[in-house]
This record gives sequence, C-alpha cells and structure tokens, in this order.
Amino acid sequence: MATGKKRILVIYHSQGGTMELMARHFARGAAREKEITTVLKPAAEAGIDDLLDCGAIAIGSPEYFGTMAGMIKDFFDRTFGAAQEKTIGLPFIIFVCAGNDGRGAIMQIERIAAGYKWRKVLEHLRIVGRPGEKELAELEELGQTLAAGLDFGIF
Ligand SMILES: Cc1cc2nc3c(=O)[nH]c(=O)nc-3n(C[C@H](O)[C@H](O)[C@H](O)COP(=O)(O)O)c2cc1C
Repeated sequence: MATGKKRILVIYHSQGGTMELMARHFARGAAREKEITTVLKPAAEAGIDDLLDCGAIAIGSPEYFGTMAGMIKDFFDRTFGAAQEKTIGLPFIIFVCAGNDGRGAIMQIERIAAGYKWRKVLEHLRIVGRPGEKELAELEELGQTLAAGLDFGIF
C-alpha cells in the first residue's frame, strides 16, 4: 500500500526537448511546496528504488506513433514485477505532449497504471503543439497542486 511519503517522482522521456521543458516546469511547480521533495529523472535513469520511495508519481511522455514513448514503457516493464502489490493506491498523474493528438499515449499509460492499481488524483494534461507561456504555467500549477495535495494528506 502506498504510504504518506513526501516525495514526488517525476519521470519523463524527451527526444526533441519539448517534454524535457514541460517536465522541468512541472517539477518547478512541485518544488514550491517546501515539505515535498521532488525527484526529476529521465525514465531511462529511474528504477524500482525511485518508485518504491515516492508518495506520488508524475509521468511525462510525448506521444510517438499513437502511444507513449518507448522509454516510458521500458520503465514500466522494468518495475512492474518488483512493484506489484507494493504501490497500490499510489497517486499518479500523466502529462503528454503531442503534434496533433496525444490521447493514445494517455490511454495506454492509464491502462498500465490500472495494472499497478495506482490512483488518479488530478486530471491529466495533454498539450498539442509547442507549449507556450500559458501551458508552461499550467504545468507548474499542476505540479504544485500535486505536491500540496500530498503535503496536506489529501491524496
Ligand atoms: C517518431 C515520432 C512519432 C510521433 N508520433 C506522434 C503521434 O502519433 N501523435 C502525435 O500527436 N504526435 C506525434 N509525434 C509528435 C510528438 O509527439 C511531438 O513533436 C512532441 O512534442 C515531441 O516531444 P519531444 O520533443 O519531447 O520528443 C511524433 C513525433 C515523433 C518524433
């Protein structure tokens, strides 16, 4: 069962830089909550210890070919067995960037999150096209909302 750990794990993958920018803004927003530790990592560098240590996870993926980035899937492939039954109820959120859609990536990540039995606590965010100031501010707000919810024990 997920505990009240005050740490948010933000994993992302980015080939072209858009998701990296988005993930940095999400993490910047989360870091405004001083009681919460925010760990920002490329999915390829994150592993089971990061997952078992967090009280919430945020997943940032571009949509590639109608689904999540391969490295996000790889994180799930590598952690599922060891995490099974140990992260039940973990609050999660997805943010996606896409050229014209993004819904496939969200849907596929949601299906996997259901396998881990994670808990959706906020609406996922889908950004189509290059994020501007408004979208980046929205990401910061989302990160801060997740962190505040975790800090206050709402999630
Ligand atoms: C190989 C590849 C496949 C893509 N497939 C899709 C897709 O299926 N749907 C979509 O909306 N955008 C698609 N895109 C556009 C990316 O989702 C978009 O450019 C995104 O911002 C890239 O993020 P990144 O810069 O972090 O890699 C694709 C881009 C690449 C490079």
